[in-house]
Amino acid sequence: MSAVDSQARSAMIREEMPATRACAYLNTGTFGPLPRATIEAMRAYQQEELEAGRIRAEGYLRARETKARARAALARLFGCSPRNIALTRHTTDGMNIGILGLNWRPGDELIISDLEHPGGQLPAYNVARRFGVTVRLARLGDGSGDVVGRIERLVTPRTRMIVISHLTWGTGAVLPLADIVEMAHRHHVLVVVDAAQSAGSVPVNLPETGVDVYAFPGQKWLCGPEGTGGVYVSDEALDLINPTVVGYASMGGPMDHHGGYFIPADGAQRYEVGGINAPLTLGLATSVEFILDTVGLAWAYARIAELGRYAWNRLAAVDGINVITPRECMAGLVSFTVEGIEAPQLVERLAEYGVIIRHLGSPAWCRVSTGFYNTEEDIDRLVSAIQEIRRAG
Ligand SMILES: Cc1ncc(COP(=O)(O)O)c(C=O)c1O
Repeated sequence: MSAVDSQARSAMIREEMPATRACAYLNTGTFGPLPRATIEAMRAYQQEELEAGRIRAEGYLRARETKARARAALARLFGCSPRNIALTRHTTDGMNIGILGLNWRPGDELIISDLEHPGGQLPAYNVARRFGVTVRLARLGDGSGDVVGRIERLVTPRTRMIVISHLTWGTGAVLPLADIVEMAHRHHVLVVVDAAQSAGSVPVNLPETGVDVYAFPGQKWLCGPEGTGGVYVSDEALDLINPTVVGYASMGGPMDHHGGYFIPADGAQRYEVGGINAPLTLGLATSVEFILDTVGLAWAYARIAELGRYAWNRLAAVDGINVITPRECMAGLVSFTVEGIEAPQLVERLAEYGVIIRHLGSPAWCRVSTGFYNTEEDIDRLVSAIQEIRRAG
């Protein structure tokens, strides 16, 4: 695509996502901006619920169709079958489904990286407490270099699971997912992935990576509403990851009260539980369809990466800014510190300039997220604002 066409596409997208014009919107790692179509779809659904009520037979059918539509859109995004997608409320739901689902035995081992978010850490430490599982911590530095080797050195005959991010939320490193999975499967170990920062920002075909479980949110890079998300579970892992929390939505056939068993749904729907928020689910489907059909997935990924590198270069070129993110394996997150200003204070001052980023960690650093809807000007605005704030002291 020519630069002119790309610019026109960017302008059209920004028109459809008004929040991107209200500020330099550089915090998709927390919440993505919503497309207009998403809000309109959710509003229409709720209006109908208000006026026609929620109790007609068509309402139930429509909720089912809405769920199917969301799974289908997500399956297109990840190159998998909808049968491998369960809808959840957020990333952490999916991490719990994956991590708690194994039939853990005392003395089993789980490896987790030291770059994980609490959304992955807590379910891991929960199985440690409940089942006597030993958690081993893989120290990955900033996430560059020999990640596979550092993890593999911790594998023992008792290792049953590796919990890892695809894109680390703190340092912004894309980890070599397919290589980690290949190594893990050689040792008969399952891989559960926190995809909170990668889903919608890092190109992936899930069946090709061989990954077992991939848990993702709706509200970040997929630009969907809060309270939405999903989890991919591969065909092979469906037999190993038991549903921990179940309900009518998990059933694959009539329940047998006398036999005292139920038949789980054939695919990942066995991890779904009960009633869902249908308008939110429609919102998620609409946002993902917007990325697939209006933005264009390949263009979105390329633009996120291009803007990420642009932000990295611009920030690294400024005296007094220390960029933490490893450039050789990055996507759309760039983390940095600025000499002489604490990160929380800088984030607050930047907001006065209409530049929205976030701080995290302790001691804290700043993190910029570059979305497909951002422009080079957004990043220039960030850099100029930092320079001005430093000058002003
Ligand atoms: C890497 C990572 N994992 C998990 C989470 C938690 O996400 P959710 O609220 O979707 O469970 C976040 C949110 O910031 C994150 O960055």
